[in-house]
Amino acid sequence: MSSQSKIVTLPGDGIGPEIMDAAKALMTELGGIEWVDHDLGGVAIDNHGKALPDETLAAAKASDAVLLAAVGGPKWDSTNPDDPRPEQGLLGIRKGLDLFANLRPVKPIPALYASSPLKEERISGTDLVVVRELTGGIYFGDKSRVDDVATDICAYSVTEIERIARIAFKSARTKVTSVDKANVLETSRLWRETVVRVHQEEFADVPLDHLLVDNAAMQLVSAPSEFDVILTENLFGDILSDEAAMITGSIGMLPSASISGDGPGMFEPVHGSAPDIAGQGIANPLAMFLSTAMMLRHGLDRAADAARVESAVDSVLDGGLRTADLGGDADTASVTNAVLAAL
Ligand code: IPM
Ligand code: MG
Repeated sequence: MSSQSKIVTLPGDGIGPEIMDAAKALMTELGGIEWVDHDLGGVAIDNHGKALPDETLAAAKASDAVLLAAVGGPKWDSTNPDDPRPEQGLLGIRKGLDLFANLRPVKPIPALYASSPLKEERISGTDLVVVRELTGGIYFGDKSRVDDVATDICAYSVTEIERIARIAFKSARTKVTSVDKANVLETSRLWRETVVRVHQEEFADVPLDHLLVDNAAMQLVSAPSEFDVILTENLFGDILSDEAAMITGSIGMLPSASISGDGPGMFEPVHGSAPDIAGQGIANPLAMFLSTAMMLRHGLDRAADAARVESAVDSVLDGGLRTADLGGDADTASVTNAVLAAL
């Protein structure tokens, strides 16, 4: 085994390059990681004419892990279906690496309870993870636009549901809550039936319940600490994970891991490219650091270093340092230096 892990870094657009620089400083401090930058998203459209260049996907496939900052921005916004969009790069690399499982942990840090729009007594003790199916459903079904009618097909197969359900049951500490819309959607009825069967056959000891997605959206803000693992399909997981992010006070805090059966995983903050503050050096790098920690844990088998990074982030917040999104005035560089010092 080579002592250096070889990862692909995708700085992307907006604040992406700034927070990726922060992650590189962190990786230099930790050691044992080599990276090479590739284009994805808007920057790839500008440089190569498409959001996911072939060389980016090939390099990602050959890597030990992929670290992504953020893609997208108003420069590439268009409703013309023929125009390339930065998001196609993200969806393409998810599909290309078969990253079917997206893990989004939500654990508010006590020092930030006051930054959440929810009352402290509601959020305290929350420690949940959204396990989102990432390569199926309405995101990837056939799309059409004929005259003044548009369609997006939502399709799921038993195999796709089984493999994401297994990830959820394996991630559970106390229970799995499967979220669907089985009172309306056929894909949701197949989802529920399959989750129930996988549970009975393989994970009968893990408590399982089911919630309809509208009810889940409500429970997430009324009683978030009741959840452990939320298992859900692609679109519901997209929406619920943004909602869950606000429990932590800022979407700037949330990391995510996207994993496949065996190939490299991809690790990225849940937040976007924040074009409004790009280039000012004031972006919050913490979700990027926490994503690097998830890469260390899930992608590079370095759980102890992952925990070091996570406690360094905690201690910096405990010390009161805050970027603008958290109501403070610290810039990216000072938060980065503080985290490195706290390692
Ligand atoms: C996310 C994002 C993406 C998604 C967009 C940018 C395509 O919102 O990772 O949650 O919808 O999956
Ligand atoms: Mg989203």
